[in-house]
Amino acid sequence: MAFELPPLPYATDAFGDIISAETFEFHWGKHHRTYVANTNKQAREAGLQDRSLSEVIRAAKERGDKGLFNNSGQLWNHSFYWQCLSPEPQQPTGMLRKKIEEAFGTVEAMLEQLKTEAVGHFASGWGWLVLDRGELKITSLHDGDTPVAYDGMTPLLTIDVWEHAYYIDYRNARADYVDALLKRAINWEFVGQNLDGRGVERADQEPEMAAAV
Ligand SMILES: [Fe+2]
Repeated sequence: MAFELPPLPYATDAFGDIISAETFEFHWGKHHRTYVANTNKQAREAGLQDRSLSEVIRAAKERGDKGLFNNSGQLWNHSFYWQCLSPEPQQPTGMLRKKIEEAFGTVEAMLEQLKTEAVGHFASGWGWLVLDRGELKITSLHDGDTPVAYDGMTPLLTIDVWEHAYYIDYRNARADYVDALLKRAINWEFVGQNLDGRGVERADQEPEMAAAV
């Protein structure tokens, strides 16, 4: 079996000073690539080589296999995160805007709450906008933990707050990184698509059929 490093949906220099090409070279080209390699190795050792990525994540959680859970969660989380970013500034529109306003009052209030959650998250992890049993919610999860592993939780948008996501461009200023992304680099069209409940599928991977035979 072999899960793969998904290609970025834009050039590594597309974000200018918001996210530098050097950050993509390390974050996508090295960190994400390592999660792919570790997941392939550990899933094979665990006898899960014929499962999809989302199935590997859930099985690893059930078995209490922390190494495989964090690596496979990180593989999925990053595959989702890249799609949450857009080099062209966008705004939430349509049904997404309506649901945000119903849940938070205004888009600005939602962004402020997401920023507070992401910046305040202690140590490594991810800030999330999710549908939790149909309700729009902001939360954060530690290390490689992921909405994929929670019944009833549907991912809409994530912000990586591991230091490797921002240290090259922002040093220790996590708030500046989160602020720049939320104001100038979110793919709200992708976030809106995920209201259909299929966000997990958009970063999932099937094992190669040849390896499963
Ligand atoms: Fe990351």
